[in-house]
Amino acid sequence: LSSIRVDVSGVQPGTQVTVKWLGKPVFIRRRTIEEIEAAREVDVSSLPDPVARNANLDGTAPATDPNRALTPAGAEGDAAEEWLVMVGVCTHLGCVPLGNAGDFGGWFCPCHGSHYDTAGRIRRGPAPENLLVPVAAFDGESTIVLG
Ligand code: FES
Repeated sequence: LSSIRVDVSGVQPGTQVTVKWLGKPVFIRRRTIEEIEAAREVDVSSLPDPVARNANLDGTAPATDPNRALTPAGAEGDAAEEWLVMVGVCTHLGCVPLGNAGDFGGWFCPCHGSHYDTAGRIRRGPAPENLLVPVAAFDGESTIVLG
C-alpha cells in the first residue's frame, strides 16, 4: 500500500482540501465547532448506517463523531474532533459528493441525491453507507499520513 503525506497547516476551520490517493479523491476537512457539535448531537441509533466505517477502528465501532474524526496525538475536547478524513466517493454508485452542501450541512451527492452530515454520515438518499474513513494518522500536528 502506498502512503502519502499531506501538509494541512494551511487548512482553515470550515474549509477542506481534496487530495488524490490511490486514484481516488480524499476529503480532508477542518471542521468548525458548530459542525462538530451538530455531528455530536445525532443519535447514532437513528442513522441509516450506524457503523463508523473507519478503517482505523474495529469494523463494528459505532458511528459516533469521535469514531469518525482523525485525532492528532494529545488533542482533547473539540480539537480531538476537528479533522475529518474521508474517501470522497459516494457509497451509492461512486460519484464525488460536493462539500458544504446538502440538507445536513456536510456533503451532497448530485447524482441521485444523497445527503451526508458534518461527520460524513449518510442521512438521506440512496447511499447505503457513510463515507469511508481511510487508513490515516497524524504525524505531528500538521501532517496527515494516508495509508
Ligand atoms: Fe451518489 Fe448515487 S452516486 S447518490
